[in-house]
Amino acid sequence: MPASPPDSIAFIIAGASGDLATRKVMPALFALHARGLLPAESHFYGYARSALTDQTFRARLQDLLQCEDLPGDACDVSRRDFLERCHYEAGDYDDAAAMSRLLQRIAAAHGANVHRLYYLAVPPSLFATLAATLRMADSRCGADARTAAPWLRVVIEKPFGRDRATSDELTAALLRVFNEEQIYRIDHYLGKEAVQNLMVLRFANTVFEPLWNRNYVRHVHIEWAEDLSLAGRAGYFDGAGILRDVVQNHLTQMLALVAMECPWSLDAKHIRDEKVRLLRQVAPLTRDRVVLGQYTAGILAGHSWTGYRDEPGVPPASRTATYAAAVLEVRSPRWRGVPFLISAGKGLDCRRTEIRIHFKGPEHDLFRQALLSSGVAGAPLPDNELVIRVQPDEQIYLRIAGKTPGLEFHLDTPKLDLIYREAYAGKRIGDAYENLLLDVVRGDRSLFIRGDELEAAWDIFTPLLHDLDATSDEPSPYAFGSRGPEARDLLARRFGIEDA
Ligand code: NDP
Ligand code: BG6
Repeated sequence: MPASPPDSIAFIIAGASGDLATRKVMPALFALHARGLLPAESHFYGYARSALTDQTFRARLQDLLQCEDLPGDACDVSRRDFLERCHYEAGDYDDAAAMSRLLQRIAAAHGANVHRLYYLAVPPSLFATLAATLRMADSRCGADARTAAPWLRVVIEKPFGRDRATSDELTAALLRVFNEEQIYRIDHYLGKEAVQNLMVLRFANTVFEPLWNRNYVRHVHIEWAEDLSLAGRAGYFDGAGILRDVVQNHLTQMLALVAMECPWSLDAKHIRDEKVRLLRQVAPLTRDRVVLGQYTAGILAGHSWTGYRDEPGVPPASRTATYAAAVLEVRSPRWRGVPFLISAGKGLDCRRTEIRIHFKGPEHDLFRQALLSSGVAGAPLPDNELVIRVQPDEQIYLRIAGKTPGLEFHLDTPKLDLIYREAYAGKRIGDAYENLLLDVVRGDRSLFIRGDELEAAWDIFTPLLHDLDATSDEPSPYAFGSRGPEARDLLARRFGIEDA
């Protein structure tokens, strides 16, 4: 279990002028602070090249700090208090003198015994540079993380490299500065409420575990859909593509939690051991098991959207995929032969992330005749399906077969459902970054990616990524606002998945 929160922490956010820091990290820190979940002596230091001051940094944050659910004027009071604790130091990411200046400022204000949490919210190309700067500026880097008090922890954002080799290089660069125990590789999907519920659902409920295997599961579908374009991130996204942006990390992490064996305990080591074991059993992905797509101009909700190649900053002949569907093979005794369809796309018809466990039908289709008489000519009784809706509107439901009320014997497929908004009415669901930042403060690394886990995840995708780099294949076009390329359905059908 996590240790108690320490007394005094300096949060140092590098890249503090950027999108992630202002839109996600600082609001999450504020949400924790406003609810009294951070140590009373917590202070927040932004660091970036932009010429901001404490005042202009605070002014940028002011409107993004939300806590209106708190009673009375508690939110305004907390916001004022939080902003007074926010400071800013301008400096380049390779400027050890500027970083030292910041550390001296922290020591002068709060003493030498303050814990330090570095958050590297900078473009991935700067991770290694910044780590080297910290090694020069902070004498606590490299100290034994298990005994060092006060502690130093560093949060690194994805993407962790472009393939297995570059990821290994990044890991080596980080390990020259920090111990693995000090490194928190963040994947914010692991902080989402419904994803956190996956292990509880699987291992605290005896009804699911006996069915959670190749004997009863026909296929699994992990679907990630976004109805947005690049929102100004072309510079990053065009070099990454959807496979590196969300599939290798967010979707693969959800897959690991769905398919892994039960860990021996909730200790971070045991959970991560099981995830690694599972990921190593996933066969490297090959071209014949993948469909790639790229959105073209389209209309969604009455609004016209430009095609990917016409987005500002995207090269006109870009072959970057904005959509990918793949059928993964999990070669464990539990899952052998069960196709795992994963699909992810930008510019689709909706925003939705779902995990669907599709069960096999009954051996003896006793009710087929009854279904026919209810007017669903020729259709087989739909299989049971357990759906975990990660977002939006978190829910977990089981599609079952049932008799509709009435004198006729008609069948239907109602849902047994847990809709968070109804079951937990009035209970606030915090942003994923709040959960994860609190875990860093508590020193709980269960939800962060360990080095060997990262290696195993890259091993699944690296051969395919290299294969794609070596060919001139064009991704299949699909209209913005559609369900994605039609080839996705053909791929799914090839693996016996009819209704993905
Ligand atoms: P930004 O592009 O906003 O960059 C953050 C800051 O880094 C900028 O404000 C800028 O600060 C500095 N910077 C940007 N480009 C350069 C450059 N070429 N050279 C030197 N400094 C530069 O990034 P995000 O905030 O969007 O992302 C930060 C990290 O988080 C990335 O690794 C990203 O992959 C990851 N991430 C982001 C998500 C998001 O929603 N934005 C979601 C998940 C992960 P200044 O000029 O002031 O130094
Ligand atoms: C990020 C990706 O990791 O996750 C983005 O880089 C994507 O491309 C985002 O839009 C989605 O996060 P969420 O929490 O909004 O689903």
